[in-house]
Amino acid sequence: MPAARYIVITMSCRSEDIIEFLLTRRSIRQFKPDPVPDDLVLKIVDIARFAPSAGNRQPWIFVVIKDKELKDRLASLHSGSSPLLRAPVGIVVACDKNQSPISYQVDCANATMYIMFAAHALGLGTVWLQTLRNVEEIQKLLDLPENYVPIAIVALGYPAEKPQPRPRKPLEEIVYLNKFGSKYVT
Ligand SMILES: Cc1cc2nc3c(=O)[nH]c(=O)nc-3n(C[C@H](O)[C@H](O)[C@H](O)COP(=O)(O)O)c2cc1C
Repeated sequence: MPAARYIVITMSCRSEDIIEFLLTRRSIRQFKPDPVPDDLVLKIVDIARFAPSAGNRQPWIFVVIKDKELKDRLASLHSGSSPLLRAPVGIVVACDKNQSPISYQVDCANATMYIMFAAHALGLGTVWLQTLRNVEEIQKLLDLPENYVPIAIVALGYPAEKPQPRPRKPLEEIVYLNKFGSKYVT
């Protein structure tokens, strides 16, 4: 496995480009059969290490799933996990609740979003697949110790679709000034 690691990330993009980048990420559920090279997978999890975590405890681990049988088992956990059938790679983000008992779910959600954005930057597609109703089953399938809670499965691959943006709630409905109910946006 290549040993390159990000130490310092320099930014040379214009802010408009970064905003466009954020707004053009979509959940991808249809993937090309092409494999994702290991160096790209490693680059993505390397970047995920830079996600913020409470007390910088970084309680996450990343389990890369390439074995077809295991991937198919995870894909059949529930009706929403089927995109993993079509993705060449899955990444299970698991969090050590002993290391960060209060914030482990939030920490791992941050790392999951970093995975999704890193993949988007590299021209890859992702979708976050729910794990929280199947924690023990996933722990068993991956030999995870009981303190490692799977927070997300990210299906990863080259996109075979260009979905339209999903609708978002209007700002007026979700932004308040100082107190709940006091309008900020008119
Ligand atoms: C915690 C969480 C769980 C999700 N679970 C699933 C899932 O099991 N299957 C799926 O297809 N999409 C899942 N999604 C993806 C959402 O459906 C998707 O992010 C949302 O519809 C907005 O679409 P967008 O990501 O394209 O903006 C999940 C997203 C989150 C954050």
